[in-house]
Amino acid sequence: MKSAALHFAVLASLVTGCKRDCPPAPAPTESATSAARPAASPDKLPPGVNAVQNEMRLLHEAMRDTVSAIALDKLSTIPELLHGVHRARALTEHAVESGTYELPKNANQLEAFKALDESFHEELEKLLAAATANDPAATATAVGAVMGRCAGCHAQFRVTN
Ligand code: HEC
Repeated sequence: MKSAALHFAVLASLVTGCKRDCPPAPAPTESATSAARPAASPDKLPPGVNAVQNEMRLLHEAMRDTVSAIALDKLSTIPELLHGVHRARALTEHAVESGTYELPKNANQLEAFKALDESFHEELEKLLAAATANDPAATATAVGAVMGRCAGCHAQFRVTN
């Protein structure tokens, strides 16, 4: 009893101590998955969202859910996620070809962007094939290859604040 009380006191002091001394939680920042923003759609751009942003949001969600699918042994759910990205990509291509989309950075390097995008989508095709074959090891490897492409393209064409 005594030691339980002591334990409680120590815990309580830790909790209050933490309230007083711990660094404050980071201020909320705009997140790519923020619920406050309109949901990305494979078929129609939400208001105020350009085609690449829309595709990227779906891509982000698809990769996040792909990790969950691997964890939960549900590889069969991955193809539908990737098809959503693929459909959104058609909106991107239309926007790029019609000149309604302008890259936020290095806008004059459109051909380089298209080439990077093309080879990126080939990596997504490999992920699709591995998931369709229900091969967890190949799926995980393909996820690594896909994720290995995000930062390079962002460094070249995306503005982050
Ligand atoms: C071929 C180039 C390219 C690749 C590859 C790429 N991105 Fe992007 N991404 C962009 C560009 C360009 C933007 C900025 C779009 C804009 O603001 O117009 C962007 C923006 C984003 C955004 C912000 C979207 C928003 O709402 O503003 C997210 C999230 C994102 N990318 C996720 C990813 C992830 C995850 C990967 C890898 C799995 C990836 N991207 C791979 C080009 C790319």
